[in-house]
Amino acid sequence: MAFNNLLVADEGATRTLTINRPDQLNALNRATIDELDRALSEAEADHNVRVLILTGSGPKAFVAGADIKEFAHFSVAEGQTLSADGHRKLFDHVERLNKPVIAAVNGFALGGGLELAMACHFRVASDNAKLGLPEVGLGVIPGYGGTQRLAQLVGKGKAMEMIFTAGMIKADEALQWGLVNHVVPQDQLLAKCNELAAAIVKNSPTALAAAIRAVNAGYEPGTDGLQREIEEFGKCFGTADFKEGTSAFMEKRKAEFKGE
Ligand code: COA
Repeated sequence: MAFNNLLVADEGATRTLTINRPDQLNALNRATIDELDRALSEAEADHNVRVLILTGSGPKAFVAGADIKEFAHFSVAEGQTLSADGHRKLFDHVERLNKPVIAAVNGFALGGGLELAMACHFRVASDNAKLGLPEVGLGVIPGYGGTQRLAQLVGKGKAMEMIFTAGMIKADEALQWGLVNHVVPQDQLLAKCNELAAAIVKNSPTALAAAIRAVNAGYEPGTDGLQREIEEFGKCFGTADFKEGTSAFMEKRKAEFKGE
């Protein structure tokens, strides 16, 4: 089924999802979140897709936040549902996807936009990107994981400063903070992400999925990350990908992983 707010493009095993509401700076309304939920599930189930790039359309914004116009008149209960639904359908969904997701931050990543970039497994920014969590300036707090994931990525003090000031940082500062992994000129952003994706797709999809689960486990309250690593490591030994990877090494040839 086609999407109204999303563009989907495949190049080899890399699928690029582009949020496509440029006249609203790609703000996340509920329809867009529902479509992203569906697109992520489709990518997860598609064996031909091994890595995803998530970006925003137009030269100005990745995503300028949750759609303020849509939630401005919400009640307390509606606010809670908005946050809970967003976590489940989009932010946790991205973080727990069984394939790597790279955020290509091509401009403003504000509020829900920065939260979406932070839910991705890592981030590459264009040099015009501006990142921030402006929610307290609207009388609300980050509700799509920002209070947790920003502190995990940059430390509690920097997270508190960014949230309290509602300010924006530029790409080079985000790089210095460790919030993004690379900064490149805007016209090279997708090329850089595709280059990283090309390095990833050579590797075992089953091992990549296990690595995502193991790394995430360390951030799940009540879960022993090292114990999960032991379990995931052990399970790899029962996979066809492990047999292929180790055989290819010993036979001095390139591994051809099937993702099983
Ligand atoms: N929700 C809804 N609409 C948004 C939006 C958001 N988060 N961010 C931008 N838009 C809309 C604007 O309302 C405007 O629509 P209109 O032309 O129908 O009025 C359009 O996108 C263009 O934005 P505009 O504000 O005119 O662009 P700008 O270059 O002057 O400013 C920003 C860019 C990002 C600084 C500004 O749009 C902004 O502050 N957006 C809100 C950021 C925010 O607080 N996000 C957190 C939400 S929880």
